Amino acid sequence: MHIPACLSPVTAVIGAQWGDEGKGKLIDLLAEDFDVVARACGGANAGHTIVVGGKKHVFRLLPSGSLHEHAEIVLGAGMVIHLPTLLEEIGLLRDAGIDIVPRLKISHEAHILFDFHKEIDGVLEERKAKSGKGIGTTRRGIGPAYMDKAARSGIRMEKLSDDLDMLLRERAMELGAQYGITVDAGMEQKQLQDAVAMLGNCVIDATTLLHDRISAGKKILIEGAQATLLDIDHGTYPYVTSSSTTIAGALQGLGIAPKHLGDVIGVAKAYCTRVGAGEFLTEVEGETGDRLRERGGEYGSVTKRPRRCGWLHLPDLNRSAMINGCACWNITKLDVLDTEAVIPVGIEEKNGKAVMKECTGWKTSTVGVTSFEKLPKEAQDLIALIEKETGLPVRYIGTGQKREEMIAR
Ligand code: IMP
Repeated sequence: MHIPACLSPVTAVIGAQWGDEGKGKLIDLLAEDFDVVARACGGANAGHTIVVGGKKHVFRLLPSGSLHEHAEIVLGAGMVIHLPTLLEEIGLLRDAGIDIVPRLKISHEAHILFDFHKEIDGVLEERKAKSGKGIGTTRRGIGPAYMDKAARSGIRMEKLSDDLDMLLRERAMELGAQYGITVDAGMEQKQLQDAVAMLGNCVIDATTLLHDRISAGKKILIEGAQATLLDIDHGTYPYVTSSSTTIAGALQGLGIAPKHLGDVIGVAKAYCTRVGAGEFLTEVEGETGDRLRERGGEYGSVTKRPRRCGWLHLPDLNRSAMINGCACWNITKLDVLDTEAVIPVGIEEKNGKAVMKECTGWKTSTVGVTSFEKLPKEAQDLIALIEKETGLPVRYIGTGQKREEMIAR
């Protein structure tokens, strides 16, 4: 399937809910027409499933667009990068006959996420959990890496080739005393050396590279990670991630000026999921929640945790559209609702509660439908409701897992 490129030269795909909306599929389809695919923020807390040579892999750091061999892949300054995970992902691609290293560009300003950040993440989570305030992080060290960055004690990719032995030993002592963890400074140093050997030439001034590409008329696809409601400022704080997941955060994380930005495509599931703690007004538990989870395969791709499931909440989409300036929607996983007799949709929020509208289900398979006209009337009505309540067109509709199972309007 090929979606014609009527998109602007700098286009972004941003999640409108709590992540796991299925952004990867649209990115995979769009990337064909883009010269660069760029990730701006976050780290190995993200997870997208990519099928390579018939085998499924979950990638955490490399963007979903990485399989397109013509595309340059950028890991931006806003990211926190766990190098052993990155090397593993590069290795998986290499096993499948794809050498990504020559086209991989890593910002010298991105921060290195060390194993000790993961350890600290675990310690902090356990401390919070004791008082019932656990966030349910992915334990990939994201919060502690951004803590170091904000405290100006982080180590950036530009230092990758330096001798950091002494510095790491000092950190090991400090962190041991502060968190009661054992840091293997020698192992951390060894991991850096392994990374230098493979990635030494990939670490560059990615911001200038992106500007050079924009000046040369090349097309850049910004791949958002996590999603708007997990944003450190605009999300459901404190149950959020530690980076800026909105379009503004993406531009900041890549060093692209707003004047270059064209379309922002908001991505939302036809229902809603969340991993970890925090508010979820349209959550459904019991049989219905279980059914959505099973039909949608709603288990965390990084942590394998069962995702909390519930219904679409349009005020969230409106808020995300407002913050990100979305031009249109990609509504994903419509087919997951195929067996529902009634589909509740949150259309308003009153006194901290969702006001639900009950839509009639279509009770027939939409899997693989590729034209809007072929959708059952009730499914068309649901899409029309989303368009009416958000004031934005639904331009892409996911109708299954496969690449070609998508309606593009
Ligand atoms: P952290 O990003 O690992 O610190 O986790 C903070 C919160 O964000 C937790 O509720 C995680 O489950 C959630 N989270 C982080 N990354 C993702 C993602 O890519 N998809 C869905 N939830 C995520």
